[in-house]
Amino acid sequence: MSKNQGKLTIHTKQRGAELSDLFGIFFEDLNHAADGGLYAELIRNRSFEFDPIDHPDFHSLTAWEKVERGGGLAELWIEDSYPMNERNRHYAVIAINKPGDGVGIANVGFNSGIPVRTGEEYLFSFYARRDESFNEPIRITIESNEGIIHGDATVVIDSSEWRRYEAAITVNETNYSSRLTITTVGSGKLYVDMVSLFPKKTYLGRMNGLREDIASLLAELKPKFMRFPGGCLVHDGSLNPDDRNSMYRWKNTIGPIEQRPSRRNNWRYNQTLGLGYYEYFLFCADIGAKPIPILPGGYDPHHKRIVPIDELGPWIDDALDLIEFANGDPSTEWGAIRAELGHSEPFGLEYIGIGNEEVGEPFFERYSYFHQAIKTKYPAMKIINSSGPFAAGGEYERGWQSARENGSDLVDEHYYQSPEWFLANFDRYDGFKADEPKVFLGEYASWGNTYYNAITEAAYMIGLERNAHSVGLACYAPMLCNVDYVNWKPDLIWFNNHEVFGTPNYYVQKLFMHHQGDRLLHIEASGFSQPKVGEAKSINGAIELTANASSVNFSDVRIVNNDTSEERLFTGWTAELSDTEESRLEGKTKRAVRLGDTDWSNYTLYMTARRIDGSKGFVVYFGQSDERNQLFWEIGGWQNQDSMISSRVDNRNSCLTQSLFAVETNVKYELALEVSGRRIRAYINGELIHDTVDKLPIIQPLYSSSSADDATGDTIIKVVNVQDAAVSADVALEDLPKANEHFVEIYELSGYLLEDENSFEQPQKIMPVQRGFSFEGNSFSHEFPAHSVTVFRIKTSAE
Ligand code: AHR
Repeated sequence: MSKNQGKLTIHTKQRGAELSDLFGIFFEDLNHAADGGLYAELIRNRSFEFDPIDHPDFHSLTAWEKVERGGGLAELWIEDSYPMNERNRHYAVIAINKPGDGVGIANVGFNSGIPVRTGEEYLFSFYARRDESFNEPIRITIESNEGIIHGDATVVIDSSEWRRYEAAITVNETNYSSRLTITTVGSGKLYVDMVSLFPKKTYLGRMNGLREDIASLLAELKPKFMRFPGGCLVHDGSLNPDDRNSMYRWKNTIGPIEQRPSRRNNWRYNQTLGLGYYEYFLFCADIGAKPIPILPGGYDPHHKRIVPIDELGPWIDDALDLIEFANGDPSTEWGAIRAELGHSEPFGLEYIGIGNEEVGEPFFERYSYFHQAIKTKYPAMKIINSSGPFAAGGEYERGWQSARENGSDLVDEHYYQSPEWFLANFDRYDGFKADEPKVFLGEYASWGNTYYNAITEAAYMIGLERNAHSVGLACYAPMLCNVDYVNWKPDLIWFNNHEVFGTPNYYVQKLFMHHQGDRLLHIEASGFSQPKVGEAKSINGAIELTANASSVNFSDVRIVNNDTSEERLFTGWTAELSDTEESRLEGKTKRAVRLGDTDWSNYTLYMTARRIDGSKGFVVYFGQSDERNQLFWEIGGWQNQDSMISSRVDNRNSCLTQSLFAVETNVKYELALEVSGRRIRAYINGELIHDTVDKLPIIQPLYSSSSADDATGDTIIKVVNVQDAAVSADVALEDLPKANEHFVEIYELSGYLLEDENSFEQPQKIMPVQRGFSFEGNSFSHEFPAHSVTVFRIKTSAE
């Protein structure tokens, strides 16, 4: 087989769009990304505030155990009648019945326990008070589950009022499954709250700081920005900031940690808010990333909680005050608070997001008020609007319409799709205009953490970069995942309580962040032969009708061949299908029915559908090869609020388009699904609700982009080869002086199997290798290996 050979020409003097802040990171406290993750606190449930609101299994003593040593006897319970403050009402009471060798409590931390390392120091603190009769010192130990002491300290409680006590403990053994105990041989009652243990070694040694290994991995990415604090956790909650269940309100997250309320995290756990807005800003400053906070827009789309317009004032003030908190002079109210917390310099906030993937009119109505107020007071602030959680469709368009009408600077797009979708949509932003709001691709990932996922994302990122005129910001999501508390996968970085590793996707992000450059350079590909693609295949395959969390009835089904008008009637045919919890338990009723085994293509499917009872609606599968490869139309999907068309490739879904639609019980819907080639149109009661194309990937011989780095003068070239054969190219840099010798740094990811992944055992199995070479004149030849990502840094500054 002859090699594919062509030419990449870089016009080093033809500068294009600015790349600005293009590649950054996304932070959300899901998967225990903050508590039990980046936030270095080692005590779980430190202030006894865990509650069934957070998770049905949680209670005030989650992660705590009673300790009774050497015949000691004690009782342990929770009270709230004499709290240390109103926001942290619960505290533990240890009533000593018989001291024995010591009684008290132990905390078992996150994951397998509290991780400690030989020779390292740990900073313990807690709030305590005692009964007047209580007169013995308190012993704090870090010890193994078998009671082997790794380090200890003694604290004397000298008041019956709440006071903070602290001690430093140096540990003489490495143990990733230890526990912290607080015991005494005193008599009477001891009251304990806000128990904390931090490694002294946090990232940059900060107090209330971050886990050094995870923070370093993030810093090593050199992201241009960090988006925080989420994700859905921003808007999933109640409207009252003092509720346990409140939306994420930033003012609750600053100041002394014992004054910060505990919060229900919508990912079904408790959020201490110890990692709060001040810490986020500080971390951004520490790693040189611009902060991008996302604020709730007064609307919870999950539970349809809506702030009345005339009560929006405090929510808008939250946004204005946040800008002052970040940027204001210490003479301003919120600037003074920042200075008091330890940062008199401003944090340089340039962007602010209102809303996170909200769908529905209440959000867009409220967004305008935020936008107006912010732009009036801070005209230079770049405001980010939202276009929902789908790549296309009614709500996506609604978000863009709102952004255009309001003059938003950016629109937050989110999508999680198959690797094939990313390849097929490499050109997604080619038609976007420079004079419109820019895209903030605020959440995206292909489903998986294999090498294949990473290289398809790399190809897509080439597309993002080439369209920097319209794509302003992009960040992979989610970023962090604790292996023992998985809410969502894939994720960029995985960790347990003492180890961390970056996925292949991480190393792709790192390559693009390290070698982003400041301005695009014009790059042309010529002479390559186009990889063979199969014939432009029509969607074909079986059709299956199903119920979704409901009992449904399908009738009057017929299929018309679009080319011949031939009809296949399912005369007198009705199907009662059920997918309710009850029917599943009984295992009696049918959930799905297949319309024959026919290989349908180019047809229109008509049917009448009715929900008999249940909470959602219907799903029509089509183009079905097998369960792992098919398309489907969901009517009444998610919380019975969407109609969506999705494709599934190798069991990985991509939503192609979505619109709002809710199914009602005992209403007949006339549904029609028209499939022509790869185009899909769907109608409900005669109205077109979806018109989309299930694009097949058209593989490029090479995916390439080039940019100039102002600080170094380097010319950067990125090339991705997703094919299973090497591709050779002459790389020509127009306008370089011919005679000079140029040195090239080359960073390459190649040589892995598509299914390869990194792991705790092999954390850097997949990572780029660096080497160098030089060339004379203005061109060199290079072979781009099969399945590879290559970055050249051409040191043109030395001339
Ligand atoms: O990134 C995980 C979740 O996906 C985010 O919380 C949400 O915004 C999106 O639906």
